[in-house]
Amino acid sequence: MIFSQNEHAWLEDEARVILRQNDRGGYTVPNNSVYPYQWNWDSAFVAMGFALFDPARAWAELERLFEGQWPNGMVPSIVFHGHSDAYYPGPEVWQSGHMPPTTGISQPPVAASAAAFLLNTARSEADQALAGIKLKMLFPKLLASHRWWHEARDLQGSGLVAILHPWESGRDNSPDFDGPLARMEARVSIAHLRKDRTHVNAAERPTDEFYNKVMTLVEEAKALGWRDQEVFAASQFRVVDAGVQLILLKADRDLLALATHLGEHTAAAEIASWLARASAAVEKLRGADGIIRSFDARHGMAAHDITSASFLSLYAGVADANEAEMLARLYRTWKEALRFGVPSLEPSSSAWDKARYWRGPVWPVVNFMIAQGFAAYGFANIAEEIYHDTLGLIAQSGFREYFDPETGEGLGGRDFSWTAAMALVMRREISAGA
Ligand code: GLC
Repeated sequence: MIFSQNEHAWLEDEARVILRQNDRGGYTVPNNSVYPYQWNWDSAFVAMGFALFDPARAWAELERLFEGQWPNGMVPSIVFHGHSDAYYPGPEVWQSGHMPPTTGISQPPVAASAAAFLLNTARSEADQALAGIKLKMLFPKLLASHRWWHEARDLQGSGLVAILHPWESGRDNSPDFDGPLARMEARVSIAHLRKDRTHVNAAERPTDEFYNKVMTLVEEAKALGWRDQEVFAASQFRVVDAGVQLILLKADRDLLALATHLGEHTAAAEIASWLARASAAVEKLRGADGIIRSFDARHGMAAHDITSASFLSLYAGVADANEAEMLARLYRTWKEALRFGVPSLEPSSSAWDKARYWRGPVWPVVNFMIAQGFAAYGFANIAEEIYHDTLGLIAQSGFREYFDPETGEGLGGRDFSWTAAMALVMRREISAGA
């Protein structure tokens, strides 16, 4: 234990207040102004935060997310439960045909890992009984959502899954997508419709050119009626995202544990086969340096930069001892140049922009997953340092969306739900590890 356990205890009350404030009746908006609906992976992390003080509310978060699940199993990136004029592109743009309205794309599948967390943190008998009931109802939906990834997004049965839109990665404007986006054509011009810059400094948001490309992908998929196979075949953008692939692997492991817990043997065998296939397939994503990077499957080209997603091979449990050592060294090298880890991009990259979204800033949820990975591989000190850095950023700058890794300045939206949730979860991890 290098850091004092009580240093950031005061953040917990504030974190709980933010989660309550952003509650819209069983689901939580990521923040009140920029993102007025329910986001997929935000909600999974938020459920983990709620689990530590209101388990019933935590399960509700996941249930409300799955109200948006499509008949094909996909859990959309956004569920538009209510109405807001503050967000573009809203339900009228997506035309998903689903009730409640949703987007037509997904996001990193964290829900099964969140459900496992909820089950494992249930303490009292009543909470455990509740977890038993809720899990039984949720499990088939989780299974269907994983099957969708492994079947609809892995048409060649390669074990690697593709995203068809950068937003599906949750790391919207990461340099991982610069190449794939440069190789596609923008066919719409929507810059005038954007609303994000009325809430947040434009220098901290993606560019207009980026928006025109990502909206082209939406329009082209919508024109195909969001039919999985047709969209997959036609999409100008088809990327094996290191983040999604590794998060899915970890979620598959957690889903397998849930299946075993429930005695769902047929499902367990199916999940185990996905795991076996994906664990072998991720080896193809390694560069000559042994590091896993995203891959443009449409053009057969690996991403150039190392992003924070590369560290998730530890979280996914697919690294060997050598890779774990190498990532620990890499983490330390990155930290030498910065006050706070873990930046979303390698600081030496030519694409480095310490204030622009996924091109440099620190994101608490990614820090959580990276720290979990380091802890699982025996690097408890690094895990603790990452938790401490994240809590230090929040203590210094508030519950912001993301942070400048050099100065610690808070960036993007304020009073962010998943930042609040991570403060609670990280505080718990620190006490558990002490
Ligand atoms: C941004 C982030 C995405 C997140 C969403 C809501 O789009 O890139 O990961 O889910 O905001 O917080």
